[in-house]
Amino acid sequence: MKKGEKILFGVVALLVVITVINFTVLETVRHNTSKPLFPILTHFDFSAGGQRGYGLYEKNNCYDCHHAVGSGTSMGVGLDGLGSKHDVNYFYNFLKHPEQTYGAKTMDHGAPPKDAAYVSNLPDSDLHDIATFLSELKSDQGSSSSFEPPEGESSFIDAMVAMWTPDGWRKKYTDIRDWMKSNSQEGQHENKH
Ligand code: HEC
Repeated sequence: MKKGEKILFGVVALLVVITVINFTVLETVRHNTSKPLFPILTHFDFSAGGQRGYGLYEKNNCYDCHHAVGSGTSMGVGLDGLGSKHDVNYFYNFLKHPEQTYGAKTMDHGAPPKDAAYVSNLPDSDLHDIATFLSELKSDQGSSSSFEPPEGESSFIDAMVAMWTPDGWRKKYTDIRDWMKSNSQEGQHENKH
């Protein structure tokens, strides 16, 4: 073997060894713990319409691009928890008229030849059920789709707020964490009376 070949061979062999070690360690951790790797901060409790909507969501292959109720791909937007951000009317309008409703340029929903153009042509009653399903995908406090930040103090969030908040916002807006704190103190106050 030439020197170059030896180096190349060595690098590839090293990568293989690292990959095998990584895989083994991750699999061992995964098998020996019953806790999920990340806490799950979304929940759902479907009404009859929501249940029908879930069936239609599956039937119409939304999961090719989306992730909801614990399955699907992560190619598009994850939908779990989104029902705490928008209401059923928003979802219906988005599915029916994506480009007008989204508030930004759409990639897949919208007019043909976009890949999810078929969605807006589904029967109206189906779109209503799907919108109900979406509005019932709720988030818990602290999830990325919730307006409420995680409970307790977080030096990480403090640092991010200190670093990234535009100056104008400091005067204009209240930190939602301070707002929640003062509201819960007021709540306790009221309870005493
Ligand atoms: C080809 C991929 C694809 C398919 C299929 C698809 N979507 Fe989407 N979806 C996206 C992408 C990408 C976005 C982000 C908006 C955009 O760029 O179109 C999105 C956004 C959304 C949103 C978020 C709207 C918001 O304001 O946050 C919802 C809800 C949604 N899709 C529901 C559905 C449903 C229900 C179906 C099936 C009937 C479906 N999607 C099928 C790719 C897809």
